[in-house]
Amino acid sequence: MSEAWAGDGKRFFLTTPIYYLNGQPHIGHAYTSIAADVLARWKRLAGHEVFFLTGTDEHGQKVAQAAAAAGVSPQQFTDDLAADFRGMAEKIGISFDDFIRTTEARHKAACQALWKKLADAGQIYLGHYEGWYAVRDEAFYGEDEIEERDGKKVAIASGAPVEWTREPSYFFRLSEWTDRLLAFYEANPDFMAPISTQREVTAFVRAGLQDLSVSRTSFTWGVPVPGDDAHVMYVWLDALTNYITALGYPDTSLAKWDFWPANVHMVGKEITRFHCVYWPAFLMAAGLEPPKRVYANGWLTIEGQKMSKSLGNGLDPLLLAEEFGLDPLRYYLLREVPFGNDGDFSRRAVIGRLNSELANDLGNLANRVLSLIVKNCEGRLPALTPPTDADRALLGPVEALPGQVDEAISRQAFGEALERIWVVVRLGNSWIDGQKPWALRKTDPERMAAVLRSLHTALRTLATVLQPFMPGTMGAMLDQLGVGQGARALSDLSAPLAEGTELPAPVPLFRKIEETA
Ligand code: MSP
Repeated sequence: MSEAWAGDGKRFFLTTPIYYLNGQPHIGHAYTSIAADVLARWKRLAGHEVFFLTGTDEHGQKVAQAAAAAGVSPQQFTDDLAADFRGMAEKIGISFDDFIRTTEARHKAACQALWKKLADAGQIYLGHYEGWYAVRDEAFYGEDEIEERDGKKVAIASGAPVEWTREPSYFFRLSEWTDRLLAFYEANPDFMAPISTQREVTAFVRAGLQDLSVSRTSFTWGVPVPGDDAHVMYVWLDALTNYITALGYPDTSLAKWDFWPANVHMVGKEITRFHCVYWPAFLMAAGLEPPKRVYANGWLTIEGQKMSKSLGNGLDPLLLAEEFGLDPLRYYLLREVPFGNDGDFSRRAVIGRLNSELANDLGNLANRVLSLIVKNCEGRLPALTPPTDADRALLGPVEALPGQVDEAISRQAFGEALERIWVVVRLGNSWIDGQKPWALRKTDPERMAAVLRSLHTALRTLATVLQPFMPGTMGAMLDQLGVGQGARALSDLSAPLAEGTELPAPVPLFRKIEETA
């Protein structure tokens, strides 16, 4: 990739949102985390030094209210739920390098240091806040951003109920940043994606920004404002800071600080305003570089309904992983919906893709080739021979594949990357049918061996590039292909496996599921 945000340097820092602890994790959270995980794993595979951050957002009125409703202290409540979120991340294969909790001492210290920096720069002043506040969104809305539904005032964008709030508050001079943000967007066209986000955010900033209330006095579950204990910091200032806490802020002399600025913040589309407007403004005001890119995924719905903890209809990712297998679930989530768009989760569609694309197209191809090698070549990898035109018809697209996948994943076009991969999977299937290695055993055993070797090369490439999407299953596939643990990076593809490498008897990679009505 030529874009600077994609990490031409070897370091690559990417993040998921930190999740609110006001309910159990659901498939919507898993969706963003899995997408980020694929990117993290891909960058590692491509030889980058990756720092992948995830965690939990534990302060604010919304979390305090959920704790009160559960009848426990906020600390107890968040300790329990943070463990659930961390456990879920581990079980769905999120390969994070750090899991941050905003209630940790390191984070409070970072928030207070950032606050002081902003205050010292004259960017924060004390005033009064008066306006519409939605606890569910932890966001303030203008008069033009709310409407009445069923006799209740709600935020138009999210439907969350709003309350009129008046209290003393510190303000951040966001209004001073309108022009500088617009200039920043213009100079960095890759900063926001997809295009819908870019348009929406730019229009919002163009309309002119107002100073932002960044402290609250109506509750105490938050990071105290330095020098004024009556206030806790606005939860979004607190939450966004997590991205630099994890790199050791305010100690910018540490080696891990070199990971700043972040290459990509992966977020849901409803929180782009915070990441594309407030966050770069806070950072620039504090003399720090803004992140290189914010990528917003769309909303996952179940039968047309947005899932959310507040609405309580989220599907449990662990139950789904049990039902379909974790890797088919990960595959489905990134294959079904063009990343960035909204999409619906449907059981029937998961099963359809599992049975046809995974079990039939990929699983059977691997099984056919490996069974033939076991049966006809005594389980040893045939020698490499100079490729014929027929071999080239397969090996050309195979060799081009890693570059194409890299290009798509580096733009967060995960579905496109999988489409590219399946072009080669399908080519492998039609190629084996055309070459008929099973019929060559008696007539031309040398050609049979060459055909199987070409197919082995194709399978090795496929399994290698698919590791980020389906780490467990592709690990098993590489085992079956005789590729050692130390030879599974993209760069290893240029070093062919030794002739005669012993291959174990293959076992099916995917389990088909009966389609029920
Ligand atoms: N705590 C804030 C984020 C702070 S980041 C500095 C927050 N948390 S959240 O738990 O409400 O949601 C976080 C993210 O979870 C969303 O931005 C999105 O990435 C993901 N999703 C939650 N529900 C989702 C769907 N139904 N569909 C797709 N993504 C979903 O906002």
